[in-house]
Formats: sequence, C-alpha cells, structure tokens
Amino acid sequence: MTQRVRKAVFPAGGLGTRFLPATKVVPKEMLPLVDKPIIQYGVEECLASGIEHIIFITGRGKSAMEDHFDFSFELDANLERRGKKELLELSRRVATMARVSYVRQKEPLGLGHAVLCAKDLVGDEPFAVLLPDDVVDAPRPCIGQLIDVFNQRNGSVLATMTIEGPAISAYGVLAGSADAQNPRIYNCTGMVEKPKFEDAPSTQAIVGRYVLTPRVFELLETTKPGAGNEIQLTDGILALLAQEKVFGYTFEGKRYDAGDKFGMLQATVEFALKREEFSEKFRDYLKSLPL
Ligand code: G1P
Repeated sequence: MTQRVRKAVFPAGGLGTRFLPATKVVPKEMLPLVDKPIIQYGVEECLASGIEHIIFITGRGKSAMEDHFDFSFELDANLERRGKKELLELSRRVATMARVSYVRQKEPLGLGHAVLCAKDLVGDEPFAVLLPDDVVDAPRPCIGQLIDVFNQRNGSVLATMTIEGPAISAYGVLAGSADAQNPRIYNCTGMVEKPKFEDAPSTQAIVGRYVLTPRVFELLETTKPGAGNEIQLTDGILALLAQEKVFGYTFEGKRYDAGDKFGMLQATVEFALKREEFSEKFRDYLKSLPL
C-alpha cells in the first residue's frame, strides 16, 4: 500500500523577472488570470485531488500571497454591512479553502533548494510539488492524474509534455522509453535540466507538477548547483532515480506558462472563453476585431 498524498509544496520564491514591470511589486503568483491569482488555480487543483495541506515556499516581497489566503477583516466587514453576500462568500472561501503553511526561502539557491525548505513540514510521506507559473486546464486535475499513477506504480511521477525543437532547452528533459502497457507512462532512465537542443535525450519535457517520495529530500541535501548555477530539482530526482523508480506521465489537459507574458495572454483568452458568465460576449467581441 502506498501512503496517501496529503501535502503539496508550492515553490513561490522566484522574482518573476519575465513579467516585469508588473512583478516589480506584485508577486508573479498573484497576477490575475481572468479573476483569480494564478496561485489559486494550483491550490484548487490540489483540493480537487484530495490534498489537504498546502506549503508555500516564499521569499521577500511575497506577503500578498499570505494575505490572499487569509481573512480580510476590513473587506469582509464592509461587504457584510452592504449586504454583498456573494462577494463576502467569495472572499471568505479563499481564506478557509485550505490548511496553509509558509516557509521562507532566505536565499534564491534554486528550485531544488526551495523544495528542500519543505522537508520538516512534509516529513516522511509522499508529497506533490506544483510550480504556480504552470497553469493546467484538464478534465481531471493534473496533480490528481499523477497521484493515480503514483498509487498504481509505487514510484515518483513527473508530468510531461512533448516539445519539438529548440524550445526544449527551457525545460528538464527525460531519457527513457514509453511504457508497454500504458503509452502515457514513460519509464525514466535519466533526466537533464535545460539541455542544449542537440543534447536533449528526448522530446519529453517536464511540466511543473510532481509527486515525489520523501527520499528526495536527503538527496537534495547533497545536490550540487547545476544548470544556471542553481540547485536543481531535476538533479535531485535524477539521484532518486538511482534508488527508486521514477515515471513521466503525459497528462491529459493543456498547460499554460502563465509566468510568461505571451503564455498569460493565451491562458487569459482561453480561460475567459470557458467562463459561462461572459463566454458568449467575449467570443462575439473577439470575432468583431479586425484581425
Ligand atoms: C522548472 C524546472 C524544469 C521544468 C520547468 C517547467 O524550470 O526546473 O525542469 O521543465 O520548471 O515549467 P523553470 O521554468 O523554473 O526555469
């Protein structure tokens, strides 16, 4: 029997330089996608997948995130006084939706180091990692899909997507082969963070969703800085692969890089088109543009 995945780690210490100037003061995780900060999509994905405890790894200037997942006394009192019941419910729901903990990453030493900061709060149990920039629209929550594979195969699982061409250099890339029984599963034999295009071992790029066994913490403790001179999560998982099975999983759904200006534009258009309350109006508006 595998242990249940109850906790999720959200590394959220990054500076968001790809989205300047919007992220000069506002944390990138708080940028709105239609009407919710992008981090809330990840949190809701976890809650819909049976995860109960959210662990944010934060850094300087990220306090807006803590305020978002807390009660806003002045706002709530004001809404109550004015009888705005639905808005009050919306505001309070965010504060009560999850059990949340915060760990401060004091130095930006890399994604692997950020995950290692959660070691004490996670303890000796399997856990999820979600990179908040990666927003995934899926028929069944992406992290829930990975948890299913983790339970079936009893090994760590990384979400993957196929990237053709030089763009692969922006990702962690897996080596290995597709599983004979389930072609969505990829049996890993290696992985490399941000390889040169000509050195990429496959077209299987890592997307920011992982289910990992706690053994990875010990390995991250001794992982040396790698690509970009940062302690890379990919390198910690590569060390894990020497001891345990690790799988890739081609999740069902679509991933948007909401930490990137163009990716956010794509997500905004597509998420807005799916929103019942204004999908028709928005569709008509788009059609009316002289494109
Ligand atoms: C991180 C990971 C990388 C992964 C990517 C997915 O890179 O290190 O392995 O492919 O997220 O978004 P970053 O985008 O933080 O440079």
